Amino acid sequence: MKTSHIPLNYHPEKLKRELRPFYIGADEKDIQEMLKTLGLTKLEDLYAHIDDDVKMSSVALPRHLSYEELILHVNEIANKNNLKISFLGDGLPQYKVTDVVGPVCNIRGLTTAYTPYQPERSQGTLQTLWIYQSLMSQLTGFEAINASLYDRSTCLFEAMNCALRLVKDSTTVIVANTLYPGDLEVLETHAKNTGMIILRAPVNPHSGKIDIPALTRLLNTTPLVAAMAFPQVNNLGNLESVDEIVDLCSTNNIKSIAVVDPMLLGSGGLKTPVKFGTRMQGSDMVVAEGQHLAIGPNFGGPGLGIFGIRYNDQDKISIRSSAGRYIGKTQDLKGRECKSLILSTREQHIRRDKATSNICSNQSFVASIAGASMLARGDEGFEETLNLSRSFAERASEELSSFEGVELRFKGSAFFNEFTLKLPVNTKEFISKGSAQGLHVGVDVSNRHPEVSGENLLLMSFTDIHTDKEIEALIAFFSTQFEKTKKGTPAQKIPEVMLRSDKPQIPKLSTQDIIDYYERLGKQNLSPDDGIYPLGSCTMKYNPYINDYAASLPGFTNIHPEAPVEDVQGCLEILYQIQEQFKAITGLPGVVTQAVAGAQGELVGIKMFQAYHNDKGEGDQRNVIIIPRSAHGTNPATATMAGYESKVIEGKVYGIYTVEALPNGEMNLNQIKDFLKTDGHRVAGVMVTNPNTAGIFETGFKEMSDLIHSVGGLVYMDGANMNAIAGLLDLNKLGVDAVHNNLHKTWTIPHGGGGPGDAIVGVSHRLLDFIPGVQVVKNQGMYEIVKAPKSCGSFHRHFGNFAHKIRAYTYIKALGCDGVRKMSEVAVLSARYLFKKLSQTSPTLPAEAQSSPRMHEFILTLSQETFKKVEASGTPRANTVARIGKLFLDFGFHAPTVAFPEQYGLMIEPTETYSKKELDQFVSVVESILRLVNDHPEVLKTVPHFTPIDRVDEVLANKSPVFSEKITSHLPRIIPDRVDAEKLRNSTSSDLCEQILLAHRNSL
Ligand SMILES: Cc1ncc(COP(=O)(O)O)c(C=O)c1O
Repeated sequence: MKTSHIPLNYHPEKLKRELRPFYIGADEKDIQEMLKTLGLTKLEDLYAHIDDDVKMSSVALPRHLSYEELILHVNEIANKNNLKISFLGDGLPQYKVTDVVGPVCNIRGLTTAYTPYQPERSQGTLQTLWIYQSLMSQLTGFEAINASLYDRSTCLFEAMNCALRLVKDSTTVIVANTLYPGDLEVLETHAKNTGMIILRAPVNPHSGKIDIPALTRLLNTTPLVAAMAFPQVNNLGNLESVDEIVDLCSTNNIKSIAVVDPMLLGSGGLKTPVKFGTRMQGSDMVVAEGQHLAIGPNFGGPGLGIFGIRYNDQDKISIRSSAGRYIGKTQDLKGRECKSLILSTREQHIRRDKATSNICSNQSFVASIAGASMLARGDEGFEETLNLSRSFAERASEELSSFEGVELRFKGSAFFNEFTLKLPVNTKEFISKGSAQGLHVGVDVSNRHPEVSGENLLLMSFTDIHTDKEIEALIAFFSTQFEKTKKGTPAQKIPEVMLRSDKPQIPKLSTQDIIDYYERLGKQNLSPDDGIYPLGSCTMKYNPYINDYAASLPGFTNIHPEAPVEDVQGCLEILYQIQEQFKAITGLPGVVTQAVAGAQGELVGIKMFQAYHNDKGEGDQRNVIIIPRSAHGTNPATATMAGYESKVIEGKVYGIYTVEALPNGEMNLNQIKDFLKTDGHRVAGVMVTNPNTAGIFETGFKEMSDLIHSVGGLVYMDGANMNAIAGLLDLNKLGVDAVHNNLHKTWTIPHGGGGPGDAIVGVSHRLLDFIPGVQVVKNQGMYEIVKAPKSCGSFHRHFGNFAHKIRAYTYIKALGCDGVRKMSEVAVLSARYLFKKLSQTSPTLPAEAQSSPRMHEFILTLSQETFKKVEASGTPRANTVARIGKLFLDFGFHAPTVAFPEQYGLMIEPTETYSKKELDQFVSVVESILRLVNDHPEVLKTVPHFTPIDRVDEVLANKSPVFSEKITSHLPRIIPDRVDAEKLRNSTSSDLCEQILLAHRNSL
């Protein structure tokens, strides 16, 4: 292999699945045998029931790259970025990445596992998130920190929504104009059409801080205010008067939302938000970005949205209005302490349109590594980092302000490690000159505030990544531009009252101890590496190592999203190419790359629909979104969040109109037709998953699209199931206007135990003008950024979870035009093969859809006799399938998706990753499980038996939730597996059944 690449940190030839052609488990012989079992001759026959009119003749992608070509290719792109000494920060500061991050990112049990819906087999993920929540509580003082939201911007919107729910009859929120403009843009975009009124508190041009008298007047004159959000460190680097602001919020009975930088709350840093206010009453909620606690800038993402809310004797209720997942401490049925997801009844998968948010995948793995990194720093490490950052900022501010015409712009205001300089020259040109000298000197904030206009302003950030030599290089550069003529201005001393007085008591552990601990946690989870991970609708397929390798190249990880465009050509190339790849894959002419999860992709789609209808002057009239009942909970939650609140007025449905399914498992097109006859003019659009959540292709989709378009509505396709159709069906021909592709499903980015996910949204020609965020275009060999003419706003401060774009890009390059099709074909073949085999012995759902061809997944159930036997043995019918899911854990497999979309169903999705031998073994496992349930239904009372813990007491977990513990020295105990999952998978079914029966008897 040529030398111009960074060496791999793994041996592909030693990995079972890494070098398989297109990462497909089945070889040609397997494929032929499976086709024969199905009575088919070729892979295309799997799609024979779908109209040729909507098929794609070929995928307009180049041929696939070999493994070696791929390695060189991704290095070549990464090398196109120019890394320079950087003083960019602006809400995404760059700190040292601790030594634990690389090794923890390589723990496949943690990176590749799904959301911990099965706590008995996910204590690994749950524990990493527990540590995160606990340490973040210590850092912020907040009793309850959730297990992460996407990023600071979307956290802000979620916090505002929470406040609107909590403050009766409120409609309005106030935000400080000193919050980062990107965050404010995302907030405004989300709020459009929802009824949320956003008012801005202006900046005082002298102090560069919120104008408190103006804020007071705003509060006194505005009715129905729910909340005020304000930063601790503002967008000019200045420390805000947080005590005065929180006092004002308390006096006006509104919720105070503090936006902080968690790094700066470490030992020796700034005051915690629970102590804001002259009575130390604290803010009501905290919102923050935590990406830099864990990883480098990665061109802006994945981020880590930190959200916290009070949970104490005075207030145990507010938390129930908040968004996102929480991990709680609880017990299993035998009283062993363990962790599980809690308060889920607020979430979209249960409450659908009444959910507190549409968030599903969060930023779980970034939270996990933030936790590990906090342990690697400990109080001492934080203190060292903060001292260094502060001292560099002090030195630079004094030295730089000694140059002719250069001034500290807000001399009277204290700052910590970021400050704004006033320059005697145009800031943009100055930044360009700096770049030519190998420096990213800072961010141009000249136009940030109209109150401070007409000045040349530069915002600079100093952290522990810098060295004395780099500060000297910065000063030397200034000296090439200006004369040193005066004494510099020393930084203001930070008032005591703004500083942290106590210590968070975060322990500092050794790198090796942390890695060992997290490795042990990784073993408590399952990974698709090990075997079939049958979680239907989640597409748990193999996540190639090479994708992670590409994303970890320093050219990508260390580049800041606000670096000059000529220095980020490699990143822009990835974004440009991924736009092209997804145009080819979907057949649609436009692509949005900002969404960071499927649910956010849905919101992007629906917000574009609103922008389109508003543009036509029909925004108010189009007040209905049509959604099938079998839809994932995020669909109704998204529509509601976008502003389509469900209600019935004078017999008319507003908001979500629900469509039922036909006996064959497809949606009832006649019901839609009838609704359109009377209410077509009110329809904004439909949201339909295709193939649907029963694994059945909606053969009437094209007809439905035509009908919707004929009444002026638009079509959203939930593309969570693209793994069945990518490269085979043309979504443009299907009439799709917007579709999200979950990169953490079909496109192989690891799920991280709950996130970060990512989504690419394809859009039709109708929506091209309304695309949010930026588009990358190629102009004379250079990549540039442009905005759509009627852009509906922005969903991310930068470019989404950029590191994940690299992973998906790398995967698609490995697949090329042939691989994309083959991946889908073999995924469908594998599912249909399993369906054929298993449906010979077990009933399937929908009950009358036996003959509907299955695509990538299918739903199994039990016979009525078996249900009756189970009930008679003491397990309620409603709990039966969930308990059967636990029995899969006893066989060393993850559970299928239980009770969705059919209450009595087990949804199985094998993906294309596994060989026929593995599929056959899985058939025998499922048959053994169902036989065991039939013959010994009593075992369901005690399942699972071999995981580290018994079944979790979810009632207890939710009744008196515990959100954190104080971790000051030792890490929480890890309970070992009773029997290793690999050993279980390698046992014969008959042995296992005997062991299960024995374990059942012993546990009574
Ligand atoms: C059908 C469907 N739609 C939407 C989603 C939401 O995607 P995400 O978790 O990426 O937000 C999921 C996730 O499980 C899904 O299965």
